[in-house]
Amino acid sequence: MSAHSSNSVRAYRGKLLHFLADPGDGHDEHAVQFFEDGLLVIEDGHVKAAGRAADLLPALGKDVELVDYSSRLLLPGFVDTHVHYPQTDVIASYGTQLLDWLDRYTYPEEGRFEDAAHAAEVADFFLDELLRNGTTTALVFGTVHAHSVDVFFEHALARNLRMVAGKVLMDRNCPESLRDDPATGYRESAALIEKWQGRGRLGYAITPRFAVTSSDAQLELAGQLAREYPETHIHSHIAENQREVERVRELFPWSRSYLAVYERFGLLRERAVYAHCIHLDALDRTRMAETRTAAAVCPTSNLFLGSGLFDFPAARAAGMRVGLGTDVGGGTSFSLLRTMSEAYKVAQLAGYGLSPWRAFYLATLGGARALALDDRIGNFEPGKEADFLVLRLDSTALIARRLRAATTPAEMLFALMMLGDDREIAATYVMGRLAHRGEPALPALR
Ligand code: GUN
Ligand code: ZN
Repeated sequence: MSAHSSNSVRAYRGKLLHFLADPGDGHDEHAVQFFEDGLLVIEDGHVKAAGRAADLLPALGKDVELVDYSSRLLLPGFVDTHVHYPQTDVIASYGTQLLDWLDRYTYPEEGRFEDAAHAAEVADFFLDELLRNGTTTALVFGTVHAHSVDVFFEHALARNLRMVAGKVLMDRNCPESLRDDPATGYRESAALIEKWQGRGRLGYAITPRFAVTSSDAQLELAGQLAREYPETHIHSHIAENQREVERVRELFPWSRSYLAVYERFGLLRERAVYAHCIHLDALDRTRMAETRTAAAVCPTSNLFLGSGLFDFPAARAAGMRVGLGTDVGGGTSFSLLRTMSEAYKVAQLAGYGLSPWRAFYLATLGGARALALDDRIGNFEPGKEADFLVLRLDSTALIARRLRAATTPAEMLFALMMLGDDREIAATYVMGRLAHRGEPALPALR
């Protein structure tokens, strides 16, 4: 790094929080780094150093630009481990549970993505919305149309974002106009992988929608793709809703469980991520942990669609990899802060206290680990890509007031995750470049 001129170095001063490991149920000193007066030093889009301002300031060159976020909190960019960009306009659709919600709202909307110009317009809005919410990496569903992924990646590449996405595979039990078939699904996925995997900061996810909408032949070919392209992700849904689970039992009568369907077709491995994981049994959880398959926990969606409650203590006991997902448009917010808040409440119903440390871990390094991208993103270790966000800490009068009463960092973080939303995002940086600046706070009324 010293080969570069210090002109490319910039330093940001503020409160600083990041994680070196899973903090578990408490506040493990080796897992959490919190600096009340911290400094984040960025060089050429990567983290050069992060620590106490008093330790790092003396070594900064005199010509280094120093950005003052003293009354703010710097965090690694949020990681959304499960979201559907084509469902941006489905968010907040009233009155149904999963299978009817798909039929009534979601499939018709995804049908509109036949039009590549519509897909491009939505992708552009969606990526801006992620940045407005401090999310810098996401694992993203497209639609069945290959061009839905092309336009998404084009817009992500233009913003230099680390994004993983894929074309949906679905060849049965859905509207005719949204079906592919095993051969075309395979061919189009392979072509997209060849075109996009590893380009810029992009990665491809082999994306069978869920076991209900793929034939055995299609799942077989999805498994073949996963073997032929081991660097890709695998992305699907599992065990979200009771009627869905029954449907899978009818469609795959030979299978011990829903998870065992995916396992039979070679779809459990590192970089495989399954949304929801609600109606699993103990053996399923063990197999997920043993195969390094990750769960994307989507509490706003699970509550909104009446799907059920993710079992945090069981997942933890099994050693499953876990990240947080917004699952828009089943989910009701793009905000990882709002998602943490709902996760806390869901955990409460299982008698498990989700600490603020663990919640912020799950939204950052935990999500990066679930996606097996933690060698690049997720915290402020030197060399990591400098995706980060700045929380305002005074975005509402109530938050400002509650934080004045907070006496510890944990209390501050907990109030932020319970009360915060996109208004908290003062700025979002991608590879060290300002990518979004929040609206300035309204002047105080007199
Ligand atoms: N299961 C299959 N497709 C979907 C989807 O689009 N959203 C959710 N939440 N679950 C699904
Ligand atoms: Zn989903």
